[in-house]
Amino acid sequence: MRLKHTVTAILIVFALITAKSWGEGKATMQKQVFGKLDDGQEIYLYTLTNQKGMQAGIITYGGAVVSLKVPDHKGELGDVVLGYANLDGYVHDKAYFGALIGRYGNRIAHGKFVLDGKTYMLFKNDGDNTLHGGKIGFNKRVWTAKEVSSPAGPALELTYLSPDGEEGFPGNLSVKVVYTLMNDNALRIEYNATTDKDTVLNLTNHSYFNLAGQGNGDILADEVTIHASRFTPVDANLIPTGELQPVKGTPFDFTKPMVVGARIDDNYEQLKLGHGYDHNFVLDGGGKGALQLAAEVYEPNSGRVMDVLTTQPAVQFYTGNFLDGTVTGKDGKVYQRRSALCLETQHYPDSPNHPSFPTTELKPGQHYHYVTVYKFLAK
Ligand code: GLA
Repeated sequence: MRLKHTVTAILIVFALITAKSWGEGKATMQKQVFGKLDDGQEIYLYTLTNQKGMQAGIITYGGAVVSLKVPDHKGELGDVVLGYANLDGYVHDKAYFGALIGRYGNRIAHGKFVLDGKTYMLFKNDGDNTLHGGKIGFNKRVWTAKEVSSPAGPALELTYLSPDGEEGFPGNLSVKVVYTLMNDNALRIEYNATTDKDTVLNLTNHSYFNLAGQGNGDILADEVTIHASRFTPVDANLIPTGELQPVKGTPFDFTKPMVVGARIDDNYEQLKLGHGYDHNFVLDGGGKGALQLAAEVYEPNSGRVMDVLTTQPAVQFYTGNFLDGTVTGKDGKVYQRRSALCLETQHYPDSPNHPSFPTTELKPGQHYHYVTVYKFLAK
């Protein structure tokens, strides 16, 4: 009898150990109502869980990533993105938490560009500039969702049809973004678009990461690597001057792991203009179609690591300089200055006004296609 119990106990322990070391559960996707807009439209929250238990929450409003639960070095899940407790937060948001950004990520100077000899005027929502798409960017639009999960992981397809002239941009633009929560603990974002008229386009995602967990202090102790030996310096309006400046010997050198806070308040003109880091880094060998490692972030307390891979030519490194403690987010957390960092993969800001920058033009018959992956590990 005793032997039987011992054998059973050993078998149970063995089963538990095996299950833990494999750590594989079932990948799932759940849909629920997140809230209702004033016009009655329902907004849905999709919760994607991969085989390892990592979770991503994505809403149809702005296609925003509202939560991202990732294991630390002890295997404990923590939510590493800033966000709001409810839909109202996203409707009134000015920081672009987690959202899809379009039609044009970052700034277009004087809200104006010329394409095929025609001048297009945009809404200026950032002083004299257009920022992140204008008055009502893709972050404030309702996207249509469809589950497209595959063996790689649970996946959500979001589509949006941006009509000709929306926010001043030409062409009926059909956009499809696919979020896949890969079973190897990565959030893969695939961007697709086509147009029926020549236009310009620069899509990105504006997640704010704090690998220590959202609301847990600032990101100044994070170690960041950016595989860029040049960046685009800006003027006082955060518009690129057009120059590609080598990072070597400057506080912008992240080619080797560097603590974010080590040089952020240096008496260096570009840091003063950006109120910290708010700059476009030109990825070495980037934009050639291959998915390559763009940046790495390591948070020493949690041991969490985030690798950013992309097919885009550049990445905007933004240290949450405009967060000022006036926003209360999830779990009642108040987001102070520099309480998160963004690594927005993209084309260079204001490219339509800089013929020397890689082109952001999209023509009928062309397929806009970029992939960005945020991969998580712990050490
Ligand atoms: C980008 C910009 C910043 C700021 C944030 C949103 O990162 O470069 O200047 O506008 O978005 O607050």
